[in-house]
This record gives sequence, C-alpha cells and structure tokens, in this order.
Amino acid sequence: MNLPTELAFGGARAVRGRLELPGDKSISHRALLFAALATGRSTITNLSTGDDVRATRAAIEALGVTVRGTATVTVSANGLGAWREPEEPIDCANSGTTMRVLSGTLAACDFLSILTGDASLRQRPMRRVTEPLGAMGASLDGRDGGSYAPLVIRGGRLRGMRHELAVPSAQVKSALMLAGLHAEGPTEIVSPAPSRDHTERMLAALGVPVDVEPCRVQVQAGAPEPFELDVPGDPSSAAFFVVAALITPGSDLTIESLACNPTRLGFVDVLQRMGGDIEITPAGERCGEPVGALRVRASALHATTIEGDEIPNVQDEVPALAVAAAFADGVTEVRDAAELAVKESNRIGALHEELTQFGLAVEMRSDGLAIRGGQPRSALIRSHGDHRIAMAAAIAANAIDGESTVRGWSAVASSYPGFADDFARVTGS
Ligand code: S3P
Repeated sequence: MNLPTELAFGGARAVRGRLELPGDKSISHRALLFAALATGRSTITNLSTGDDVRATRAAIEALGVTVRGTATVTVSANGLGAWREPEEPIDCANSGTTMRVLSGTLAACDFLSILTGDASLRQRPMRRVTEPLGAMGASLDGRDGGSYAPLVIRGGRLRGMRHELAVPSAQVKSALMLAGLHAEGPTEIVSPAPSRDHTERMLAALGVPVDVEPCRVQVQAGAPEPFELDVPGDPSSAAFFVVAALITPGSDLTIESLACNPTRLGFVDVLQRMGGDIEITPAGERCGEPVGALRVRASALHATTIEGDEIPNVQDEVPALAVAAAFADGVTEVRDAAELAVKESNRIGALHEELTQFGLAVEMRSDGLAIRGGQPRSALIRSHGDHRIAMAAAIAANAIDGESTVRGWSAVASSYPGFADDFARVTGS
C-alpha cells in the first residue's frame, strides 16, 4: 500500500458503527512461526496486514518454509530440521518481535543467520536475548558486544535452564520458550511481573505441554501441530478507535471479533477507571485466545494513575491512553514505564513533544509522564517514525475543531497500513 507522507485530520467527527480489525500483530507473528515449526500444512486467515508481520513471513520463507497466499495464508513446513541457512541477512524491518522471537528458534539451528532491521530496530536493546540464548549454548553476537543488531547467530545444541528476566518482556520470554522447545531438559523463565501470554496459550492449544504460573513458565522439547486459525482483531489497534470514540461527542462504536486476551486489555481497565463507557461481550476462543466484541460510547473522562504491574499489559497502548489523558479532567500520571523509551521510538520523549504541540502541560520523567488534561488545540504533529504515535495524533486531531496534520504518516505501515481508511469509514469523513 502506498501511504502518504503526511495526512490531515480534524473537525470533531463522531465515531460510529461496527468494525472488524486486521488480525492481532502478536498472534500473527506467532501463528507464522509456529506453523513454520510444525510438520504439515497450516492455514491462517486475517493475518495482520502490517509490515512487521510481513517481515516475519519473509524471514521464514528465507529459512526454507513455503508460504502462499495473502487473504488466506498457507504455511507448509517440515519441522525445524528442514529450515535452511538463509543466503542473505534477514531484514526484520521495524519489528522487535520478529528479531527477538525468531532469535530463540535460530539459536537451535546449526547454521549461520544474520538478523538486521531499520534504523529504529538497530537501536533497540538486544542483549536481553543474546545473553540468555548464549547461556543455553548458542553463539550470538551483535554490535557493542551483542547489545544491538545486526545480530549474528550460529545455533547449536541447547541446554534447558532457569532464566530470571530483569524486565517483564513477552518477546524475551517467547524467544526463550522457543529455544526451550529444542533444548535438552526443561527451560524455566521467571519474570518480575506478568507479560502478554500468547506464546503460552497458543503452544498449549497446539499440543505443546506448557507449565504456566503468573510470573513463571516452563517448557520441554516439543513441536506444535499444524493448525487452522482465523486471527482475531488487534486490541492494540482497537485502542485507538476506543479512545477516539470516548473523546469525541456522539460516538457509539462496536468492534467485533477482537482478540480479548486479558494481558492485552489493560487499556480497557484504565479507560473504565477514567469513566469510559466500554462493554465487552465474550465470543469464545481461537487457538487458546479469547475473542469478543467491544462496545464503546462517548464519555466524560477523569484522570488516573497507571503504574506498577499494570504497565506491561498497557505499554503498547500508552500513546492512545495519553490522548485519553489529554481530554480528561485532571492530571494523569504514567509511572514505572521506562521501557517506553526503547520502543519503536522513545515514546516518553515523543509523547511529551507532541502533546505539548497540542497545547497541553506535560511533564516528562525518566519512567513516564504527567499529563494535565485540557482543551487540546489543532497542531502540526510528527510521528517520530512510530506507527502508534501517528495513530494517537490522528485520533486526538479527530476530536478537535480545526485541522491538524500528522507528518511521517507512512510509519503506520508497521502495524496498520489501512488505519486511515477504516477510521474514515467510522467517522464518515
Ligand atoms: C510483544 C510484546 C511487547 C510489545 C510488542 C509486542 C509481543 O513487548 O510491546 O509490541 O508480541 O510479544 P515486550 O517484549 O516488551 O513485552
């Protein structure tokens, strides 16, 4: 999809109607990888349309796995033993999940692979995977002693072991679990706080025994079965529509077939605490992942504090929540969120800068932000090359009279290239 470099929004347009979203990004990455580890043919529909998941698809193709189709994707694989040394470096583009989670499996492959990415990904911390995978017996290196991509991996025989993570990270936990599927003996991962649990749920649904406790998970050698999955809609994309509906008078929006994994719906708890009128109706499970419908109506919001163990389950939604805070009565504080500085952009710095452009009083701290809600005014906003900053700016602009422009719009391609079209449909613009 050819996306414009900048886009204008504005005019306080209510968000109304029904919507289904492209497949969840985290579940899509895992569906492709697990299908590539299975023996047989898997079929996946509603895969995430973003460039991040496209990078995971291209990576498994470069490793010798056959992937066909776009609307319906079939993956034909023969287990990890059939993966082949890639001829060229694998380009993970903007996708931390591709690089970190794939590293876990490549650590078990007896060949050389090189993982690289765009300028943002090459600045993101990778020692959190290179060090523990090295301790399991693989050889991994990268710039600055294994801290940054490009990463060079020569896999080998892995030993299962106990890992204690310094930061709660689903990507790191998943990388170590995938390495554990090819290790001798059990692999145990202990986290300081819970993080999203898609790998645990999906592997268990695909026949791999996983022993799960709130901050601890253990796996043994095994491989997933081939499967069929219709990926439910992405809750992190939904967060932008939900906040847009809450802050724009006259809104009433229903999002159907949404992934409703509790580790992804922390933003709903925060917004309900702020006074948001949001209802969730469960609609079963797919591949161990809860699915449901969400209805949201415009509401008067008040400030809250987001901190502690709540942070890992809302971190991708902080840009959307910051916009809710911008329209709420009082000062909303985000604490214990230093990880936000090492996402696709430095989201603490980016949100500080752009909310200030909207005319708000914002205080920036090393582990978060304090945002005094008020009456944001139209502005010229930069995306900082970050898809979630671009979409956050768009929904704020939609709730303000007058036109705002988002520069660097094409960043939305990472997760949701069709956002502007879907948003235009529910705002009638
Ligand atoms: C993801 C985990 C999260 C999230 C990222 C996707 C995943 O990062 O921010 O966008 O799919 O596992 P952490 O590894 O910091 O939990």
